[in-house]
Amino acid sequence: MKSVILVYSGGLDTSICIPLMREEYGYERIVTVTVDVGQPAEDIKQAAEKAAQMGTEHFTVDAKEEFAKEYCWASLRANGEYQGYPLSTAIARPIIAAKAVELANRLKITSFAHGCTGKGNDQFRIEYTIRALCPQATIHAPIREKNLTRSWEIDYAKKHNVPIQQSLEKIWSIDENLWGRSIEGGELENPEKAPPEVIFQWTKGFETSGHTPREVKVAFSAGVPVSIDGEKTSPAQLVNRANQIAGDNGVGRIDVMEDRLLGLKVRENYECPGAILLLAAHKALEALVLSREEQRFKRLVDQEWAQLAYSGLWWDPFKDDLDAFIEKTQERVEGEVTLRLFKGSLQVIGRKSPWALYSQELASFDTTTFEQNDATGMVKQFGLASRLYLSLKGKK
Ligand code: ARG
Repeated sequence: MKSVILVYSGGLDTSICIPLMREEYGYERIVTVTVDVGQPAEDIKQAAEKAAQMGTEHFTVDAKEEFAKEYCWASLRANGEYQGYPLSTAIARPIIAAKAVELANRLKITSFAHGCTGKGNDQFRIEYTIRALCPQATIHAPIREKNLTRSWEIDYAKKHNVPIQQSLEKIWSIDENLWGRSIEGGELENPEKAPPEVIFQWTKGFETSGHTPREVKVAFSAGVPVSIDGEKTSPAQLVNRANQIAGDNGVGRIDVMEDRLLGLKVRENYECPGAILLLAAHKALEALVLSREEQRFKRLVDQEWAQLAYSGLWWDPFKDDLDAFIEKTQERVEGEVTLRLFKGSLQVIGRKSPWALYSQELASFDTTTFEQNDATGMVKQFGLASRLYLSLKGKK
């Protein structure tokens, strides 16, 4: 029997792929797989219900803890940001595709389908991972291959009894996982217009966020958070907690013009309260324990890492190399950071670590241990090249 695995979210694009796979691509057995990386429980449930209604063999894979531990934490250790926002959709695609491949192997299926359009980044990320982990894969991308438009899709859905949630799907395109929520389309397509309050689900606005500053403590071990306010939890639960605390205080809204892989600019809004909180704490701890040179070099490594992660090249040898450097630096990223959140602002207000490259004794204005006189010679020769340069210029 001709079988295909459809990477399924339950949205319009992936839903119409079900009849398309049957009618246009000639598959008899359609297996749908939804990977739970922290999207709303309601979405996971609805995907399963829709799949049942359309008669596919459906699987839900709960990958929340693995996603948090292996992907969110990796990105946190690399301070993973792209054009000013924490990578979120980008880091979820590799695990979603990897889980689809795992299932395909189990069911001995080598054909895959996904609902990505030809404009976005996800077609690169998802197909790359499937090909990397399943070299014999055949991959279909019906929306891209048939150049479909939204209105054609809605028509087609109606004709083929594909259930659609009109309200939401008509207005915004939303992608959500533990690490962040991204919103595009609708009136956001006009970059001049302020994002309407209704698009936000994880963060409170100025009026509704906490009216007194909230202090929060995040403890780290080997570069990853282990507790918030002294409460130890699993990685996924910790991210949820961070989202809650920062979101309640209005932290984590980002409005960007993003340059996609194809060179297309799009206006994108993000909500990523937990990621913003944890990244700020992580950077503060790195500033305490890493030397100036380590930090300078790690910023370059982090940038390269983010570029690879944005492109979805999760299994690239270059990424392995960068990860090796990052991992080494993270051995000392241990300790606790205190932050203050208030009405969308976030400040680091304290930090401590057993690996601090800091001595109060040496830095203090009252110290006598540091022989100030020792600096004299160094200061005298500081910037020698500039002096030579200026004197040469004067002669010409
Ligand atoms: N542009 C972002 C990225 O490529 C997020 C896209 C998420 N999709 C959405 N429909 N909001 O990582």
